[in-house]
Amino acid sequence: MATERMRIGIAGLGSVGGALLTLLGERPDFAPAGRTAAISGVSARTRGKPRAGDISNLPWWDDPVALAASPDNDVFVELIGGADGPAKAAVEAALRLGKPVVTANKALIAVHGAELAALAEANNAPLLFEAAVMGGTPAVKMLREAMVGDHVEAVAGILNGTCNYILTQMEETGRAFADVLAEAQRLGYAEADPTTDVGGFDAGHKITILAALAFGCAPNFAAAQIEVIDQVELLDIHLAHDLGYRIRLIAQAVRVGEGIAVSVTPALVPLGHPLAETKGPLNALFIEGRGIGRIFIQGPGAGGGPTAAAVAADIADVMTGAARPVFQSPAASLKPFVGVDARQASGRAYLRLMVKDEPGVIAAITETLAEAHVSIDSFLQKPVHDAGGVPIVLTTHATPESALLEAVRRIGALPALLEAPRMLRLARI
Ligand SMILES: NC(=O)c1ccc[n+]([C@@H]2O[C@H](COP(=O)([O-])OP(=O)(O)OC[C@H]3O[C@@H](n4cnc5c(N)ncnc54)[C@H](OP(=O)(O)O)[C@@H]3O)[C@@H](O)[C@H]2O)c1
Repeated sequence: MATERMRIGIAGLGSVGGALLTLLGERPDFAPAGRTAAISGVSARTRGKPRAGDISNLPWWDDPVALAASPDNDVFVELIGGADGPAKAAVEAALRLGKPVVTANKALIAVHGAELAALAEANNAPLLFEAAVMGGTPAVKMLREAMVGDHVEAVAGILNGTCNYILTQMEETGRAFADVLAEAQRLGYAEADPTTDVGGFDAGHKITILAALAFGCAPNFAAAQIEVIDQVELLDIHLAHDLGYRIRLIAQAVRVGEGIAVSVTPALVPLGHPLAETKGPLNALFIEGRGIGRIFIQGPGAGGGPTAAAVAADIADVMTGAARPVFQSPAASLKPFVGVDARQASGRAYLRLMVKDEPGVIAAITETLAEAHVSIDSFLQKPVHDAGGVPIVLTTHATPESALLEAVRRIGALPALLEAPRMLRLARI
């Protein structure tokens, strides 16, 4: 009996699309579904560009929307990127025709996921995006499928490999943020325009998607509170280490009352904690379920090969006919995402205060903290060569954010302060 072929149209032939060409070229029968994958058309911006695989015999489409709508393919794979523009138009065109769509596009799903889910379900077309979060490490299927019997309370992790690489390199080589970023760009670990990564948007897109999957709500990227890592100085990395912590960009989504607090923020993680030990470009994620307890996964969060493998896993799902709502529940019953200010909750903080080296300073600081009802957990005063003053660092016990901010305001007004206090949060993990 001839093996049935599933015809795949691929738009976007860059890092991920190129690796998918290679994967499907080498292992067209990768899927355990008795069907082979055959590429039936490709689209990218520049036709003459060298590609990772041989596309000379494949039908070429200048317009990805036309490829998406073509009856010559059974599945449309979108690997262009971007929340809007041709990626969105092409995905919509395929879904309108009831054609299955596989995408790695986190921005598209985080920003337009709810309307695309409605379109997909109205047309009975799967919309799959395993590759959009943590690249090759399976986080989406875990939440959407394996965890559906539990009640997820929180998801938290390291979702941007570029930021984690920069923080790791700063710690290990003693170089400043800007130096490490420039090197990461030279080595190809960071984009020429690093805004999406170091601006926290990439991690924000991913945690928005995970929140929707974990809590059965519509994704709402606008509700994510994002703070960036370029505020992290080398001095903080060293002082945090002396206190027993490592600084990581933590993306998390937590149930708070009837709402969900979604945030991306640099935070201190205790040394020895799996997130503190997640180094370089790796990604890692904790999922906390009421019944299951804690699950931890770690793996490559990017890279053409791993990401293409996740795309292929979704193609396999289309082949087997695995049918599920796009998020955890059907689009029509997705709860509206009620964003809660992540900073409403009580938490612990790290404060770094650069002060004049003179008597009475420590007493003034501790008194000010006490007046603001902030209690100290650990305290360190360490001469730092050439720091232009003496840094005092301390961690607090759990305190409402409002009290912390008031303490920071009052301390900032003390005459002994040489610069504005620096505050980072301790991760709630
Ligand atoms: N790279 C990763 O490690 C990774 C990991 C997880 C998810 N993702 C996601 O995967 C998607 C693709 O990422 P990537 O890294 O492969 O990007 P990339 O290397 O920049 O490739 C983008 C591709 O899209 C094509 N393209 C751009 N505009 C187009 C248009 N108007 N019409 C048709 N094609 C167009 C480009 O064509 P040319 O080649 O001709 O310029 C290129 O082939 C993104 O959504 C990204 O967020 C990437």
